[in-house]
Amino acid sequence: MHDPIRLAVLLSGNGTTLQNFLDRIADGILRAEIAVVVSSKAEAFGLTRARRANIPAFVVERKSCSSREVFSERIFGYCREADVDLVCLAGFLQLLHIPDDFRNRVLNIHPALIPAFCGKGYHGLAVHRAALERGVKVSGCTVHFADNEYDHGPIVTQRVVPVLDDDTPESLAARVFAAECEAYPQAIQWFAQGRLRIEGQRVRVMTP
Ligand code: GAR
Repeated sequence: MHDPIRLAVLLSGNGTTLQNFLDRIADGILRAEIAVVVSSKAEAFGLTRARRANIPAFVVERKSCSSREVFSERIFGYCREADVDLVCLAGFLQLLHIPDDFRNRVLNIHPALIPAFCGKGYHGLAVHRAALERGVKVSGCTVHFADNEYDHGPIVTQRVVPVLDDDTPESLAARVFAAECEAYPQAIQWFAQGRLRIEGQRVRVMTP
C-alpha cells in the first residue's frame, strides 16, 4: 500500500464523486492521490474534471470491446499501469469482471440503502424516483466492495437520511449525495489504514 494511497477512479458521467474526492484531498480530509481516471463514455464531463486536475484520463467504451472480459481487462490494465492500490467506482455504469489481482480492491458507492433500489438500471435519479414511489421514510447511501454483480459485494458502510413529505427526486438526491461525500472518503481511509476485514458478506472495521 502506498502512502498516500493511490486511487483509480472509474466513472461514466458528470464525475461529482470524483470532484468530491478532489475537494476532500485539497482540504486534507482524504489522504490519497488519484493516479488515473477511466471513463466508459467519451463525452463524460468527469474526464474534463480529471484533465483540469492534471490527472491522466482514459476512455474505454463497452461497445468497442468484444466482451465484458476484454472491456474489464483494458480498464484494469490502466489501473495496473498506474500502480493503484484501490479502484473506486464513482458513477460507473457498466458491470465489470474483476480480475484476481483486484479482488477486494474495488469499492463502489450506491445512492440507496442496499439491498433496496439497486441492481441493473438503478442509477442516478432513477434510484430516488423509485424510493419516493415506494414511499420509504429513510434512504441513504452504501459503500461496498464490488464483485461481478451489480451493487452486490460486502457492505463497508451505510449512511441514512430522512425522506421528507415534499421531497422530489432532485432534493432527495442532494441529501443523499451530502451523505455520500462523507461516507466514501471515510471508507477509503479505512481501506488505506488496512482496517477492513471481509468475512463473507460482512465487513468488520478494525480499531486502529
Ligand atoms: C455517485 O455519487 C452515485 O451516487 C451514483 O452516481 C453518482 C455519480 O454520478 N452511482 C450510481 O447510481 C451507481 N449505481 P455522476 O458521475 O453522474 O455525478
